[in-house]
Amino acid sequence: SKSFLKLGQKLNEGKTKQIFELVDQPGLVLVQSKDQITAGNAVRKDQMEGKAAIANKTTSCVFKLLQEAGIKTAFVKQHSDTAFIAAHCEMIPIEWVCRRVATGSFLKRNPGVKEGYRFSPLKMEMFFKDDANNDPQWSEEQLLEAKFSLAGLSIGQCEVDIMNRSTVAIFEILEKAWATQNCTLVDMKIEFGVNVTTKEVVLADVIDNDSWRLWPAGDRSQQKDKQVYRDLKEVTPEAMQMVKRNFEWVSERVKLLLEPQASGRVVVLMGSTSDMAHCEKIKKACASYGIPCTLRVTSAHKGPDETLRIKAGYEGDGVPTVFVAVAGRSNGLGPVMSGNTAYPVINCPPLTPDWGAQDVWSSLRMPSGLGCSTVLSPEAAAQFAAQIFGLSDHLVWCKLRASMLNTWVSLKLADKKLQACSL
Ligand SMILES: Nc1ncnc2c1ncn2[C@@H]1O[C@H](COP(=O)(O)OP(=O)(O)O)[C@@H](O)[C@H]1O
Ligand SMILES: *[C@@H]1O[C@H](CO)[C@@H](O)[C@H](O)[C@H]1NC(C)=O
Ligand SMILES: *[C@@H]1O[C@H](CO)[C@@H](O)[C@H](O)[C@H]1NC(C)=O
Ligand SMILES: *[C@@H]1O[C@H](CO)[C@@H](O)[C@H](O)[C@H]1NC(C)=O
Ligand SMILES: *[C@@H]1O[C@H](CO)[C@@H](O)[C@H](O)[C@H]1NC(C)=O
Ligand SMILES: *[C@@H]1O[C@H](CO)[C@@H](O)[C@H](O)[C@H]1NC(C)=O
Ligand SMILES: [Mg+2]
Repeated sequence: SKSFLKLGQKLNEGKTKQIFELVDQPGLVLVQSKDQITAGNAVRKDQMEGKAAIANKTTSCVFKLLQEAGIKTAFVKQHSDTAFIAAHCEMIPIEWVCRRVATGSFLKRNPGVKEGYRFSPLKMEMFFKDDANNDPQWSEEQLLEAKFSLAGLSIGQCEVDIMNRSTVAIFEILEKAWATQNCTLVDMKIEFGVNVTTKEVVLADVIDNDSWRLWPAGDRSQQKDKQVYRDLKEVTPEAMQMVKRNFEWVSERVKLLLEPQASGRVVVLMGSTSDMAHCEKIKKACASYGIPCTLRVTSAHKGPDETLRIKAGYEGDGVPTVFVAVAGRSNGLGPVMSGNTAYPVINCPPLTPDWGAQDVWSSLRMPSGLGCSTVLSPEAAAQFAAQIFGLSDHLVWCKLRASMLNTWVSLKLADKKLQACSL
């Protein structure tokens, strides 16, 4: 259902998009893809329609994935097949390129490096958006010396570092998501803007078929991206059909990036309901990672038969489970669970100031053969459980990765603010 939007002034226009002010929604814009030119040839027309649909689906699915992970982006929501609503940004005229595998222009600029060379850590490059000069590669120093100022924000070392770090995090998130489809994200290019309302540096523009290279099973000969089109020696109807099939392949799979691949749960066992507040904190933190969390009351000291029965219930339905044991004073619960299940057990004892230093040893000093861990903060216990699920669930992993980036950016901004105050 395409709702009516009152368009204001056209703010910007490039090769593929127009940007319009939204009269009733200050701070937001409509990003409208330009109409595809349809060639007389029916196969060509087909091909264009295929491309528009994949570009649409790709942008909305990718931005949804990033946003759900916690990455700040300009994207707000899809408006129609060819337009979406975004935060109004002043764009930083730099294309950030991130590479896992050497191919394409990198090989030309770095003779001697063979195609397929793997970059760990990821290789970062940046290009100044300047059509007249074929988008020259820039160094960090060139970007700093350009002294860009956008929406009142000067692009200095702090902003450059934030864009560099964000690009790496965004790449790793998309790489992890595509890996669930047995697909290697080879490289990617993105752009950032400054949100005119908040003056934050955010991922903006689009991520579509033209923004990355994808090699299924890491095999270049099966690539499913725009390169197939670039590589065509001759544009025959058969060749165009192949390009179209490849776009369809991506468009079918891009939706799957949002689907959970595995689903697990956390079961918090508490020795007594007096520990409820502590357990609720674990549950709340689990929810922030999208992990279901069940709270149960059982004491391994006072009702060991019941503890083991509860354990058997959760072992019996095949759902991957992390147990968190919350027991005050002497923690018998975690160790008894750990000695009787192959699932991971995290002790999260609610320590009190009076006896905490003594009580903690009941969670730390174990008989041989027990592998339970101990994490004191309830939020951190949930985070550790998330890290366990993140090994097999990319949606959880992506949230952990984005949270790491956001923490890094917050520290950077706090330091910048403090420096500005003390000047
Ligand atoms: N959220 C946004 N707010 C404001 N401008 C944007 C936003 N997203 C993209 N733009 C800008 O819109 C213009 C049109 O996009 P595009 O056609 O891709 O341009 P180009 O040909 O320069 O790549 C570009 O200048 C782009 O940076
Ligand atoms: C950007 O601006 C919009 C409104 O203009 C605001 O709602 C949003 O939270 C801001 N931040 C990001 C990251 O988009
Ligand atoms: C574009 O995306 C929207 C939202 O995901 C979807 O409803 C619509 O069908 C898509 N259009 C095309 C042409 O695929
Ligand atoms: C990004 O950061 C890395 C690590 O700090 C640095 O080596 C690299 O030169 C930076 N890249 C760009 C393009 O600024
Ligand atoms: C990925 O490859 C593995 C091993 O070859 C296979 O079992 C699995 O089904 C593949 N998954 C997808 C989504 O293609
Ligand atoms: C997608 O790729 C095609 C080339 O195959 C390109 O013409 C088009 O601009 C790209 N982007 C969109 C939004 O369709
Ligand atoms: Mg563009």
